[in-house]
Amino acid sequence: MNNFVYYAPTEVVFGKGAEEQTASLVSKYGGSRVAVIYGGQSAKKSGLIDRILENLHTSGIEALAMGGVVPNPLVSTAREMTEQAKVFGADFILAVGGGSVIDTAKGVAHGTANPDHDLWDFWSGTPLTKSLPVGAVLTISAAGSEMSDSAVLTNDTEENVTKRGVSTPFNRCKFAVMNPELTMTLPKYQIGAGAADIFMHTSERYFGAVQGNHLTDEIAEGLFRTIIKYGPLAYNDPQNYEAMSEMMWCSSISHNGITGLGSSGGTGKEGDWACHQLGMAISALYDSTHGATLSAVWAAWCHYVMDKDVARFAQFARKVYGITEEDDRTAAEAGIAKTNEFFKALGMPLNLHELLGHEVSEEEIAALAKSCSWDHKRTVGSFRVLDYDDMAAVFRLAK
Ligand code: NZQ
Ligand code: ZN
Repeated sequence: MNNFVYYAPTEVVFGKGAEEQTASLVSKYGGSRVAVIYGGQSAKKSGLIDRILENLHTSGIEALAMGGVVPNPLVSTAREMTEQAKVFGADFILAVGGGSVIDTAKGVAHGTANPDHDLWDFWSGTPLTKSLPVGAVLTISAAGSEMSDSAVLTNDTEENVTKRGVSTPFNRCKFAVMNPELTMTLPKYQIGAGAADIFMHTSERYFGAVQGNHLTDEIAEGLFRTIIKYGPLAYNDPQNYEAMSEMMWCSSISHNGITGLGSSGGTGKEGDWACHQLGMAISALYDSTHGATLSAVWAAWCHYVMDKDVARFAQFARKVYGITEEDDRTAAEAGIAKTNEFFKALGMPLNLHELLGHEVSEEEIAALAKSCSWDHKRTVGSFRVLDYDDMAAVFRLAK
């Protein structure tokens, strides 16, 4: 086994009524003036925001509520909220929502604590040395941001629009409040996209550059099997508490680093993350839902990289789906087909045509590869490293 550092310090409070502990958790982690960030309307409509504000208020915590975060959250929103948080004198940032809200909250925390920087600096290579504490009340099982060390924003203010993640220990939430009942109001499409994203957070690490960690593989394969069992159950019946609970815990465990022996980039076991980078380019240009971009490119990516290590894909097929084919390539193909069946059962697209509703042109493929490669300035992936031409080839295969 390789050396590694595993650091996942988030306190998880899980179960029915967990949100009632929000104020005491904020106090525990030093918050007395809290910027509360939420999304478009779901948390307002369900009454959750009002309940959280009441909970903070009765504990003597001052709160400034700021709504309006959109899916595929924008750096421009995070900048505006940062300015308000500074004026308010926030010492804690509380996210009430999903990945988009939590990632915006992380951006606001970094921006507020570093008034000499524009917050996008930290998505562009400037090392982060301090931030404000962030906590999350989770309302959708998907991105895993509640325990991850990453935050993803779209820069809508530059000509070559990019959606980027940054990984830093300062992105770890102090606490995550997780009541599966809060996810029961989700539209089916978001449950499906969330399950696809959860699956992919395990897949990106499982198909990383370093293999040979038995326990880590077993955890990952158990996660895959759990997601494949409960994802469709949750999708078909959002009132199924058991299914919604399993998916909520899977969302955190898939992305807190435990299957990467460390952080999302991984110390000791490097993840691949090519599908995520390809998917983020699609979201940057078409504003597509994150999980749906992943299911649309996954099989194409598998076929493009599989020759690097067919045995790994065969192990996946055998351990996750119980495929008994002896020939590795046949088993590998069966595993890919089974995964596409799983994505389909979640109502997710299996290619770009299904995702975008039209056949993508060569010009669109070039634009996607340009965005993904940051205009030819980077490669992605580690299982197989992909340059601009490879990215275009995968997008072409995913047509
Ligand atoms: O805005 P509202 O009205 O709240 O509606 C949201 C939004 O439309 C809705 N929703 C959330 N909870 C709900 C609900 N609707 C009804 N009832 C509820 N309980 O769901 C929609 C999607 O919300 P969003 O926060 O965008 O979903 P998700 O958690 O999938 O987050 C996606 C974002 O996270 C990023 C993605 O790229 C994307 O931008 N990711 C962040 C990661 C991280 N920080 O570690 C890792 C991931 O790989 C991912 O990239
Ligand atoms: Zn993801």
